[in-house]
Amino acid sequence: MKVIALVTQKGGSGKSTLCVSLAVAAQQAGYRVCILEIDRQATATQWSQLRKGEPPEVGQVPADKLDATMARVGMGNDDGTYDFVFIDTPGIDSPGTGAAIRLADLCLIPCRPTPADLQAVRPTLATIHRLEKDFAFVLNQTPPKSYRVRDTAEGLKVLGMIAEVNIVMRNDHQDAMGTGQGVTELNPTGAAAAEVRQLWDWIDNRMKELPSVKAA
Ligand SMILES: Nc1ncnc2c1ncn2[C@@H]1O[C@H](COP(=O)(O)OP(=O)(O)OP(=O)(O)O)[C@@H](O)[C@H]1O
Ligand SMILES: [Mg+2]
Repeated sequence: MKVIALVTQKGGSGKSTLCVSLAVAAQQAGYRVCILEIDRQATATQWSQLRKGEPPEVGQVPADKLDATMARVGMGNDDGTYDFVFIDTPGIDSPGTGAAIRLADLCLIPCRPTPADLQAVRPTLATIHRLEKDFAFVLNQTPPKSYRVRDTAEGLKVLGMIAEVNIVMRNDHQDAMGTGQGVTELNPTGAAAAEVRQLWDWIDNRMKELPSVKAA
């Protein structure tokens, strides 16, 4: 079982949006997947309620119960209940964010192509470095083509690994959130779906190179 945490204290960068669509893409690729949410905003939980029982399962977990929940679903076992657990975290620095980073095999840091977003990744990155975690930036809500994307990508490259796939700003992401779907379910042949599938493949390949984090 591998753990993927979506983290950055910058609000609105796309943690929840990417979390649910990546979880669905992973499930469609044949993996057993669940989402744990430690954000009181409950974005993923509300999304899940629209799915009327369709997997992936979404659980809202208080930060101080995260370790126990992970142990229960078999963290550190190759044959745990799930192949991948996605953790969605709040857009503020909180104990939950630290707990999610500590449990993660890979931290994904969504970042919009703006100087403010680039600046805002630094505290999150400091925690990730302190805990010696693997991470990747994901450029999200990018315009289809812009010098800003190139500039931000170059800024992020200096700070560390950046996913090879950018997620362009597209209505499908907003519509999918509102209908309780992943973008690959809402519009399977759309560009947003293609990008999310490519991003999932990139993450999946990267995760195959990483050792599993053991339960606390
Ligand atoms: N690639 C995208 N294209 C279009 N809209 C997007 C995209 N990614 C995110 N959004 C929109 O941006 C807004 C913020 O996204 P989201 O809620 O996923 O961010 P977040 O990082 O989880 O925020 P918070 O820190 O408040 O939890 C939402 O309205 C969402 O629909
Ligand atoms: Mg969110």
